[in-house]
Amino acid sequence: MNVLVVGSGGREHALAWKLSQSPSVDKVYVAPGNAGTAIDAENVPISEKDFPALIQFAKENRIGLTVVGPEAPLTAGLVDAFEAEGLRAFGPSKKAAQMEGSKVFCKEVLNRALVPTARSQTFERASEAYDYIRSSQESNFVVKADGLAAGKGVVVCSSKEEAFEAVKQIAEDRAFGAAGARFLIEERLVGQEASVLAITDGQTIMTLQPAQDHKAAHDGDTGPNTGGMGAYCPASLVDDRKLHWIEEKVLLPTVFTLNRMDTKFKGVLYAGLMMTPQGPRVLEYNARFGDPECQPLLSRLKTDLFDVMQATIDERLCTLEPLAWDDRPAVCVVMASEGYPGPYEKGYEIFGLDEAAKLPDVKVFHAGTKLDENGVVRTNGGRVLDVVALGDTVADAKRKAYEAVAKIHWQGSWARTDIADKEIKATSRN
Ligand code: AMP
Ligand code: GLY
Repeated sequence: MNVLVVGSGGREHALAWKLSQSPSVDKVYVAPGNAGTAIDAENVPISEKDFPALIQFAKENRIGLTVVGPEAPLTAGLVDAFEAEGLRAFGPSKKAAQMEGSKVFCKEVLNRALVPTARSQTFERASEAYDYIRSSQESNFVVKADGLAAGKGVVVCSSKEEAFEAVKQIAEDRAFGAAGARFLIEERLVGQEASVLAITDGQTIMTLQPAQDHKAAHDGDTGPNTGGMGAYCPASLVDDRKLHWIEEKVLLPTVFTLNRMDTKFKGVLYAGLMMTPQGPRVLEYNARFGDPECQPLLSRLKTDLFDVMQATIDERLCTLEPLAWDDRPAVCVVMASEGYPGPYEKGYEIFGLDEAAKLPDVKVFHAGTKLDENGVVRTNGGRVLDVVALGDTVADAKRKAYEAVAKIHWQGSWARTDIADKEIKATSRN
């Protein structure tokens, strides 16, 4: 059977790489893909926005399964459009993807399901939000635009002045466009963040091992927020007891509440959690694999992902064996363009990929890359490469990942140097 992966980042490269290992899969196509997916699979020059062209391609190329990586086509209804044509696609429906597409909807589900989350208030008018902030006893707030804003619609504020400014930006200046037509003001939580993802068919959940992202641009979690500068898994911050608690008190009630709202969720439900002194609290849900968390997760997953995705679509996840994992931890270091997450140049030749590929237990997933007309790999985005290594310990995996990073360079390339250090420190204390 042939498989089509929709998207062009590191997550989609990891999905294509993993799916191509399935004995049930003949060929993997990626639309539109990057230089890495051109090597490990076959690229198709169709944008993730062009639903009619994707459908036509799937029909003409015996695509038995389409896997949608990013949130934008999911919230725009790509899975519904495929299903309407009798095609099989992995991912939530447009309605269910609102868990990520609308923070107001997500909060409503969380509150109905009694899932622990930050207290919040929804607003449509800036004036009402200003009154609320003025009369609040708090001085720390988080202001969130309702809709998708490429990870930028969340402003963490340490004073009332900052909160006024955030409301002005989102609701009056419409810095994130229509995404700011509604917005939330919520209590600011403190703690370490963790990502717990589950594959669900709307009945059964298969929880993946916990991972941790590194959202800040620079070492020591300083600098502006990014799409994620690195990740590792498993994250001991979420031990087995906590993971079980999260399944019971967070993931299952969410899936069941969605069912009661006639919104069956099939796909990857990704809980972004804050591990507070009072216990885990949900910061947000995403409706897809995390990027970069997907890369170390799939590097360790032994189970055939194709089988799991097919079972999800057919709503028979309960018939599968539990997921099997490589015991070795994985560390993923993101290599980025100079200037990212601000403006950056594209088109630089990337050197050293072959040398890095020779290192044992290392896989370099491509994110923002493309092949030029001469077959040269060039930068084509802010986050360019995701270097993943498996090791006997997290420290060993980190060392191997950075050994590979050191072999690769282009003009202005950089990476954080401290990915997984929090984990190394926490586990060395035991
Ligand atoms: P979200 O897109 O809702 O996950 O928010 C993006 C980032 O903002 C999170 O990863 C957190 O770092 C931060 N954040 C979101 N909500 C809160 C909150 N209630 N308290 C503290 N930080 C938050
Ligand atoms: N790694 C964060 C995200 O995928 O949203």
